[in-house]
Amino acid sequence: MCGIFGYVGSRTVAPLLVQGLRTLEYRGYDSAGVFIPGFGVLKASGPIDNLARKMPESVPGTVGIAHTRWATHGTPTEQNAHPHADMSEKLWIVHNGIIENYRELKEALHAKGMKFYSDTDTEVLAKLIGSFYEGDLEQAVRQALGVVRGTYGLLAIDARVPEELIVARLGSPITIGLGVDGNFVSSDPSALISHTKDVIYLSDGEIARVTAVGYQVKKLSGETQTKVAERIEWNQESVERAGYDHFMIKEIFEAPEVVENAIRGRLLVDKGRAKLGGFDLVKERLRHVDILHVVGCGSAYYAGSVLGHYLSEYADIPTLVELGSEYRYKKNHANKKTAFFCVSQSGETADTRASLQKAKTDGLLTLGMVNVVGSAIARDIDAGVYNHAGPEVAVASTKAFLSQLTVSALVALYLGRERNMTLSTGTAYAEALQKLPAVLRTVLAEHERIAKIAKKYASYNDFMYLGRGVHAPIAYEGALKLKEVTYIHAEAYPGGELKHGSIALLDESFPVFAIAPQNAVYEKMVSNIEEVKARHAPVIALATAGDLMMADIADDVIYIPDVHPVLQPIVATIPLQLFAYYVGVERGCSIDRPRNLAKSVTVE
Ligand code: AGP
Repeated sequence: MCGIFGYVGSRTVAPLLVQGLRTLEYRGYDSAGVFIPGFGVLKASGPIDNLARKMPESVPGTVGIAHTRWATHGTPTEQNAHPHADMSEKLWIVHNGIIENYRELKEALHAKGMKFYSDTDTEVLAKLIGSFYEGDLEQAVRQALGVVRGTYGLLAIDARVPEELIVARLGSPITIGLGVDGNFVSSDPSALISHTKDVIYLSDGEIARVTAVGYQVKKLSGETQTKVAERIEWNQESVERAGYDHFMIKEIFEAPEVVENAIRGRLLVDKGRAKLGGFDLVKERLRHVDILHVVGCGSAYYAGSVLGHYLSEYADIPTLVELGSEYRYKKNHANKKTAFFCVSQSGETADTRASLQKAKTDGLLTLGMVNVVGSAIARDIDAGVYNHAGPEVAVASTKAFLSQLTVSALVALYLGRERNMTLSTGTAYAEALQKLPAVLRTVLAEHERIAKIAKKYASYNDFMYLGRGVHAPIAYEGALKLKEVTYIHAEAYPGGELKHGSIALLDESFPVFAIAPQNAVYEKMVSNIEEVKARHAPVIALATAGDLMMADIADDVIYIPDVHPVLQPIVATIPLQLFAYYVGVERGCSIDRPRNLAKSVTVE
């Protein structure tokens, strides 16, 4: 949830730390801080700019650690900002995660006369490490981690031994960047790409010593680990705004390329099939699967719901679609023919990871769709498919969600053709996917018109999104985008659910966004629109091009091209993302850094 960054080498470290934190700011922006031996500690509450303003012009030092925070324990004050120190104020740490037994540890350390200046679990960890310290920081960290319960991505430094950094991981990501004039540590590769493409992903239960010229990785139990450096596949531009006002709008406009990356080398149009190398590894086991448990959180859950619709519709595979935070605590009634499929952009979401661990413990075949290469989920599943959407920087997921829908369509085609889907159905399906990038360009071309409609509705404080069938999860995602980016109260419902209570909310102050393309439930959606119009609620309808009738019953209509049914939810997503973005701009919201949120939810 937080962002950790560090460097040891020959370059002046202060500007490297600030730049690293700026790139990691989407992981949390409640407060920030750095520790540089010889200079000391500097903290500030709020965004990185506040810390940068406090940083003196020239700061000596070529090694240091840094942190940007998403508050879990203790309010977002300077006092609670990281780094935190032991009693000697020689050992300093930054931490991403939660120490669950910090209260009892704090009491025990208190009893030993230790004083605490913050409300954080991390300060307790720093004091605990100090209590084990006998000259070797790695040893003290290992002992301390032996008694804590919880999750951590931890970076520590001893001011007396500034030549090395100690890092450890359990549950929260840590990546080591192998530089030319020194080595880096980061919560994710996006802050490393401007320095190096060669990285080491630390696995859970590993600890490492990083120096200017090398690194050594061990298991917490002591055995040395051999790690292979991996190459980051994307470039610096991917984590820059490239002239756009915000990462969110840049990432929405990346949709055609994102789809091209998702389908590249995976569509066998003449055979009406999808080629998913990762699944070929478990093809035989997949043949015997008769139900899929699909799990995700937030937008990834809504994408999983669309996957559920596709699998039922095109591959005759029933699914149980569940939220990660629920599935992990539920009896899942799985059997030998059940497989588990998780969806995650970051590949680090704690509740999705815990559900995956549960499925593994239950002996299920575990599959997944992940965007971040080398992430924990990507390494823990039996077989998977990468989104290749590139780094998603804006906290509100847009291009990753769109890629998740596209890859879901590929997964349904892959499994469908292994079962009852005919060659002709498969070919039409594959041809439609091949045309998708061009279709999305025509939808994006409508952005000015959608901006106008957004401007018209930007002053409303309540919204309802309606959709039926595969468009119900799209309605939920539309509402989530509006909530995340604008803080407007937005509800979403399957159209048919309206009459069972929530229609009571509606009046002239409560606009309804109705997703109503031409399909099997179109007539039903039209009835829903007439029901809400009867309560004087303004209606924005998403309709198929040429549907003139819709212009008679809705106040505003956003038209989308007439496409193959499998493409409809993907195409319908873009106008909802643009609408939320332009309402947010109109209301002057912090588009890329919405309050109270962070990009990857690595805490439970
Ligand atoms: C979406 O805009 C949010 N950032 C959030 O709901 C996100 O989808 C959720 O936290 C899941 O994240 P993941 O895909 O990285 O697992």
